[in-house]
Amino acid sequence: METSAAIELRGVHLSRGAAGSVLRGVNLSICSGETVALVGRSGAGKSTILKLINGLLTADAGHVIVDGRDTREWNAYELRRRIGYVLQDVGLFPHMTVATNVGVVPRLLGWDPARIDARVDEVLALVGLPAGVFATRWPHELSGGQRQRVGVARALAADPPVLLMDEPFGALDPVTRAELHREFRRIQAEVRKTVVIVTHDMGEAFALGSRVGVLADGAIAEIASPARLARSMDPRVRPLLEPLFEAGALVGREA
Ligand SMILES: Nc1ncnc2c1ncn2[C@@H]1O[C@H](COP(=O)(O)OP(=O)(O)OP(=O)(O)O)[C@@H](O)[C@H]1O
Ligand SMILES: [Mg+2]
Repeated sequence: METSAAIELRGVHLSRGAAGSVLRGVNLSICSGETVALVGRSGAGKSTILKLINGLLTADAGHVIVDGRDTREWNAYELRRRIGYVLQDVGLFPHMTVATNVGVVPRLLGWDPARIDARVDEVLALVGLPAGVFATRWPHELSGGQRQRVGVARALAADPPVLLMDEPFGALDPVTRAELHREFRRIQAEVRKTVVIVTHDMGEAFALGSRVGVLADGAIAEIASPARLARSMDPRVRPLLEPLFEAGALVGREA
C-alpha cells in the first residue's frame, strides 16, 4: 500500500572510511506514525542509517527522503528540528542538570523560559521521572536506566514528528528493560511519532516494532511484522531469531 512515506531510503549506497562499503542498496519505506525496528549484527550499518536520516551523513548514491524531500535539499537545521535523536551512548551533557539537558532543543529554538519549564516537566513525567525529584539532579546522580529515560525525554522535548532511537535501552537489566518497553509503548500510543528504533536484540525489536527490518550484507534482508518475520527462512534472518527460540524452548521445558 502506498501511503504517505514519512521516511524513505531508495537504493542507498554508502562507504565509510576504512570500513569500506557499508550500505549497498538499502530500500526502506516508513509510514507516518509507524514504529520500525532495525536489527542487525554489530557493524551492520544500523547507526549509519539513522545518521543518514537526520542528515549527519549523505548517501554516495541513492536517495534518503524525509517528508518528501531529499536530505541533500533540506536545510540541516530545519531537518533536525523535525527529528528527535536518542543517541547510542545517551550523550547527556554532564555539566547540565536533567532539566537543562531536556530543555536543550527548545532553548535552541528560542522558546520562552516558562514554556520550556512547563514542557520539561511534561516530558519528564511522560518518561516516568517526576520533575520534582529529578529535574535538578546531575547526570552522574542517575542510574543508567534513568539516564536513558532522560535521553528519551530530551528527544521528545520539542515534539518532533520523527524519533530516531539508537539502542536506547542498551545496557539495562532485563526487568528494567521490559519496564522501559512498556513505557515506550504507552508513550508511543499517546504521541504517535514516526519512530525508527535500532537494536541488536530481536526480542526488543519484536516488543516495540510494528515492523521489523533486518539489516545484513549492506541491505535490508527482510522487513515484516514480528509475526511474519518469526517464520522467516532467510539465512540472514534465522541466526538473529535463534536466541528467541532458545528462550522459548527453555520456558517450554519448565512448563
Ligand atoms: N566515523 C566512522 N568512520 C569510518 N567508519 C565508520 C565510522 N563509524 C562507523 N564506521 C564503520 O561503519 C560500519 C557500520 O557502522 P555502524 O555504526 O552503522 O554499525 P551498527 O550496526 O550501528 O553497529 P553497532 O550495533 O555495533 O552499534 C562499521 O563497519 C563501522 O566500523
Ligand atoms: Mg550502532
